[in-house]
Amino acid sequence: QAAQKGGHKHFMIKEIFEQPKVISDCLAGRIDTNKCEVVLPEIAEMEPPERLHIIACGTSYHAGLWGKNLIEQWAKIPVDVEIASEFRYRDPILSKGSLALAISQSGETADTLAGIKLAKQKGLQILGLCNVVGSSVARESDYIMYTQAGPEISVASTKAMCSQLTALLLLALYWGRRKGTIDDETYNRAVKDLRNIPSILDAELPAMRSRAKELCREYSEASSFFYLGRGLCFPLALEGALKLKEISYIHAEGYAAGEMKHGPIALIDPNFPTFALALKDDLFPKVKSNLVEVQARGGEIIALTNPGVELDVEHRWILPEVWGPLNAFMALPALQLFAYETADYLGKDVDQPRNLAKSVTVE
Ligand code: G6P
Repeated sequence: QAAQKGGHKHFMIKEIFEQPKVISDCLAGRIDTNKCEVVLPEIAEMEPPERLHIIACGTSYHAGLWGKNLIEQWAKIPVDVEIASEFRYRDPILSKGSLALAISQSGETADTLAGIKLAKQKGLQILGLCNVVGSSVARESDYIMYTQAGPEISVASTKAMCSQLTALLLLALYWGRRKGTIDDETYNRAVKDLRNIPSILDAELPAMRSRAKELCREYSEASSFFYLGRGLCFPLALEGALKLKEISYIHAEGYAAGEMKHGPIALIDPNFPTFALALKDDLFPKVKSNLVEVQARGGEIIALTNPGVELDVEHRWILPEVWGPLNAFMALPALQLFAYETADYLGKDVDQPRNLAKSVTVE
């Protein structure tokens, strides 16, 4: 096992550090470098759907929430993102021309498989987005896109989500191009900058880890955390909270920053820290004012942000600035590292957290 961990203490940290390669591997063969075009041979035969139903669980569900934003924005395809265990017991209205997109790292999650079955019964075609080759989801799908992240051993999913985000971004670009709904400038910028992400992330990961180590020591006694974000950062806030819960057993709630005032803000006090995603984007002024509200109630804040951003909080965690949605590829590893370093500092069993399974094959 020690050899398999490649010199790392845990599989989880090894997998976090593999993410630059995971992005490159997911892009391999899917970007025509001469023409700067996204090519997805797996779905070349398929017309872009009129509507998309994403079905997934856990971390894969969070990836789906993130992907919805881009598919709607660039490909103008309405997207519903469904928790598979809810979807399978509803009587969802699924119209012809819709496509079900099942996202699953393992491809063996029972609820996701049941969701696929239901969507099929209702006449939908299935596109699987899977990591494990030949898995049940892959076999049940009409079309399959592999995320190519390599085996993920740690129970808490990290690199698989990174590969799912990459694949979803490619899908949004691809369908947007096919439908003519994405402008050339955005498309070209996304394709060009995406290819530079692995090297930027690779160079940044050691510093990110040091920052995570520093900060986790200060907050390891906290019994609860808020994770706040808006827009594309909201699903990342959900994922950051999930990671912390899963491996450190610290209670954490991921929340849409603008929704805090409708209840959860009542919980804020000096012992209830907030982890904020306050990146330089269009929604930054809104996030900033939400954070002022947290501070007014005595809450301490760690904020992921970018150089040159004016933000007066206890701890600013500066990430390199990259283009628009690509910020997720910087923020996600930072969130994972904070959870990892916290759990390790607390002496938890990082790779095998209590009560959890890598793949939930029973209902
Ligand atoms: C389990 C794992 C999670 C994972 C979820 C969905 O709960 O512990 O890490 O996100 O299943 O798994 P899937 O393989 O379908 O992506």
